[in-house]
Amino acid sequence: MERPRLVILSGAGVSAESGIRTFRDSDGLWDQYRIEDVATPQAFGRDPALVLHFYDLRRTQVLNARPNAAHEAIAALEDNFTVDVVTQNIDDLHERAGSSRVLHLHGEIRKARSTRDPALVVDLPGAHLGLGDLCPLGSQLRPHIVWFGEEVPLMPRAASLVEQADVLVVVGTSLQVYPAAGLVHHAPPHCPVHLVDPGDVHMPGVRFNHWKEKAGEGMPKLAAFLRATYA
Ligand code: APR
Repeated sequence: MERPRLVILSGAGVSAESGIRTFRDSDGLWDQYRIEDVATPQAFGRDPALVLHFYDLRRTQVLNARPNAAHEAIAALEDNFTVDVVTQNIDDLHERAGSSRVLHLHGEIRKARSTRDPALVVDLPGAHLGLGDLCPLGSQLRPHIVWFGEEVPLMPRAASLVEQADVLVVVGTSLQVYPAAGLVHHAPPHCPVHLVDPGDVHMPGVRFNHWKEKAGEGMPKLAAFLRATYA
């Protein structure tokens, strides 16, 4: 019997309990930084040192963080389900918790890419990426991140995963950033949708069960419910 296909659409909230700040909550990153200064290609053109420093700070936070109970509950579901994690997060906490199929829609902070050839992506050994760090072609390396105003090349793959889901779980995302937020509308008509978030999140036209609590508590409970229902 084929195992049920579970797709997890995650955002910054799933890593909040690992000490990584979200973007739009009170005291979120965008309270302290202006997107136009640190998260657009224009910002990188204008002041690359400022942008690189911003990502160094975030990379240090990620390197010092550890997966939490939500990441672990998601990874453990691979025992009973084919699990695809489609994340907007640039941290590697899903992988560190043991998830084997993770698609990073908005890039990965522990990688950098060539400013001459975007397909040339390298792993970063540590927390720092600076001016003068060059790709093998001799051009400046930039964070391997999808900035505002840039294409999201993995969207078609993400949409096709959601279109094949038997169950969709949305955890820790405000669903305010497109095209990622539109993925919930790719779920098949019969596919149950579960939301794990202590706050309210709007999904116009989508019926969903709201597990209104933090991911560290809500995800283990939802995982038990899914096993009891499908496994
Ligand atoms: N557990 C679960 N959810 C949480 C928790 C928690 N402990 N803490 C906060 N949340 C929820 C908030 O209620 C909110 O709905 O997580 C969500 C965080 O929303 P955002 O800060 O908007 O983050 P996200 O949706 O991931 O942002 C999307 O925007 O800034 C860009 O590229 C960046 O990938 C990011 C994208």
